[in-house]
Parts: sequence; C-alpha cells; structure tokens
Amino acid sequence: MKFSHPLMHNNFTKKDLISVKKLLNQKNIILTQSRQVEKFENEWSKWLGVKYSTFVNSGSSANFITIKTLQILNKNKNKNEIIVPTLTWVSDINSLIMNGFKPVFVDINLSNLSMNLEQVLKKINKKTLAIFITHAQGFNGLDNNFLNQIKKRKIHLIEDVCESHGATHRGKKLGSYGLISNFSFYYAHHMTTIEGGMICTNDKKIHEISRMLRSHGMAREAKNNIFEKKMINQYKNLSPQFIFLYPTLNFRNNEIGATIGLSQLKKLDNDNKKRTKNFKIYLKYLDSNKYFNKYEIKGSSNYAFPIILNTKNLYIRDNFEKYLKKNGIEFRRGNAGGGNQLRQPYLKKYVKIKNLNSFKNVDRVHFFGYYIGNYPNLTKNKILKIVKILNSFAFN
Ligand SMILES: Cc1ncc(COP(=O)(O)O)c(C=O)c1O
Repeated sequence: MKFSHPLMHNNFTKKDLISVKKLLNQKNIILTQSRQVEKFENEWSKWLGVKYSTFVNSGSSANFITIKTLQILNKNKNKNEIIVPTLTWVSDINSLIMNGFKPVFVDINLSNLSMNLEQVLKKINKKTLAIFITHAQGFNGLDNNFLNQIKKRKIHLIEDVCESHGATHRGKKLGSYGLISNFSFYYAHHMTTIEGGMICTNDKKIHEISRMLRSHGMAREAKNNIFEKKMINQYKNLSPQFIFLYPTLNFRNNEIGATIGLSQLKKLDNDNKKRTKNFKIYLKYLDSNKYFNKYEIKGSSNYAFPIILNTKNLYIRDNFEKYLKKNGIEFRRGNAGGGNQLRQPYLKKYVKIKNLNSFKNVDRVHFFGYYIGNYPNLTKNKILKIVKILNSFAFN
C-alpha cells in the first residue's frame, strides 16, 4: 500500500457518532441552537477558565463578531488602529477592514510563528485600540514583559487561538489572557464540531453583545431581562421580540455541532498530550542542517508540524514539493493562512504597503515554510518514516 500522511486523520470518532445518534433519537428534538449549545458553551468556559463563551458557526465568524464588538464599544473613534501579525488567517485581517479599523502589521518570530512582540510595542501609538495576536499552529505567542507593558498602556489584547487549543503561557491556557478570545472547530484543528467557533470573555457586556451579534443583532438574544426591558421601553413602536440593535447576520451553530463538541472536548486534553509527544519525536530526528528546528515548545499544543527549509532557492523548494507529493505527504505551503497576508490580493484596495520586502521572517515562511499533519493517532514508527523521507531529500 502506498505511504500516506494526511494533514488530519480520524478526527470524528465512533463516540461522537453515538452521541449524535442519541440526540437524533430523542422525541420532539430541536436541532437549531438550544440546550446542547448552551451546555457546550458552559463546558468550554470551564475548560478554558473564563466566565462566558458564545458558540458560533466558524472561527472566522468569531473573529468578525469580536472585532464588531470592539467597534461597538469603542468610544474614541480616533483609536482606529489594531496591530496584527503578517502570518495569520485572512479573517483576522478582513474582520478589521469590514469594521472600519486599520490593520498595522508586524513581522513574526520563526521560533513560535507568532508576532514579534518588540515590534508590536514599538508600533503602539495614540491611535492603537488593540493588539490582535494569533497563537499560530499551537505555539504560545505571549511573554510577561509584553503583557505588563500593554496593561500599563491600556491596550486591549484579543487572542486568536483558532490553531492552539490547550496551549498555555505560564501554565494558564491561551485564550484566557485577552479581553476576548476566539477558537475554531474546523475539522483540521485540535477538535471539531464539523464547522464551528467560540468567542470567550470574562466581560458580561461583551458576552451579551457577542450573543446579539451572533443572531441578527436582536436585543432579546442578550438574555438580560433588565437590558431587554430597557430596550422595549426605549423602542415602544417596535415589536418587543424584534428589536434589531446592530447590523449583522446569522452566525449561529446548532445542536448537532454542540453535541459533537461536547463529545470531542472529553478527549481534547489527552489528544493534545499525544500531539506534544509526537511533536518532540519529529523535532528530535529532523535534520537541522536541512530544516529550521529552533521552536519554542514550552506550553505549546501543535495540531501540525511546521517545516521551514534551510534554503532560499525556489528551484529546490519546487522540487521539495514534488518530492513530498511523490512520497504521499500532504502539506500546505505558507503555514497558517498561506503565508504573508500582505501579499494577498484582497488587501490591496484597503492597505497601502510601502515596505513589502521588509517582513523577512514571514517571507521566509511564505516562500519556504510548510506544515504537515500531527494528529493524535500517529505512531512513533510512522513519524520516523516521515522524518526519514524528509531527511533524505537532496538540497541540490
Ligand atoms: C488563526 C485562524 N483564525 C481563524 C480561522 C478561521 O476559522 P474557520 O475556518 O473555522 O472559519 C482559522 C482557520 O483555519 C485560523 O487558522
């Protein structure tokens, strides 16, 4: 049989199927957002260590609602800049554009694929409202000096943890540091709800706004009786059930997604332990002459293994891709989100990019970086085979 190493394998288990069957076998079932969604949100909050979570239909919906919430709460319209990494998912940037914010880009570190925090601190000015960090591919992007500095300067931290479920900083989970954090449950990530995302916060008002933004901007979705009564009084000529406060769409998830999420959450920590063990095996045997290997793995939780070639030769790069394909190893070039966001066409109309070539690390990942699978049921033998294939590639 031909060797095959996919990006993800068996992420939907028999136990998940049984829990869905149980749901579907109930009498008078409701499959749109209801009790299972609420239960999943509560369990997720407990797991993460935050007060509130809002389950939505994708990680990018979580990004959009988060930034829209910031826009709604922002009283100082001169503060319209948000600092973002050049290596992230497209929705982290376009949620800013769609809500009238200016993205201010910084380069990344190769060691954790996350924002260069020194550059972030240098770019803070009186227009900076927030920093929207991406904890890329399971790595921790935080450090203490950075957290202290932005606290002192009253800059909001928003965490995109869509690729880093279970990763920690000083033993505390990523996603519990920021004012708001986002997760994705897309199939290829640490756990799945088919499609799905979560918005997490300790702030009650933010939580209520997120809930309304998830559901047509309706006042009753805040689930706050005092607030709802106030709105009904304020808008006496409207039907009390249909008071639409904000322009948004329907970003709800459903009972099937939540049921799968509850089932998957039970195995998340154990799966992550296996991923970390596997990551270390990859790293131990990979040829450091051929591939970058100085990753900061403390607190990380990697659903993928990053590969950065030690070459700047595009011909070798193209041969490497042919070689991986021939050997059955699935890959994505550009790591998280296809590499340098500044090089993507969608941005050209909105952001003037004067210094495209000055983001050296993200460009290295953009042209010579990849990720391959690191799913829980990978065996040591299989990793050793993969590494043998990688180490046998001729860089000439
Ligand atoms: C860092 C990051 N943010 C947001 C998203 C969007 O998540 P989704 O695919 O669930 O919309 C992704 C998706 O892969 C991502 O990697």
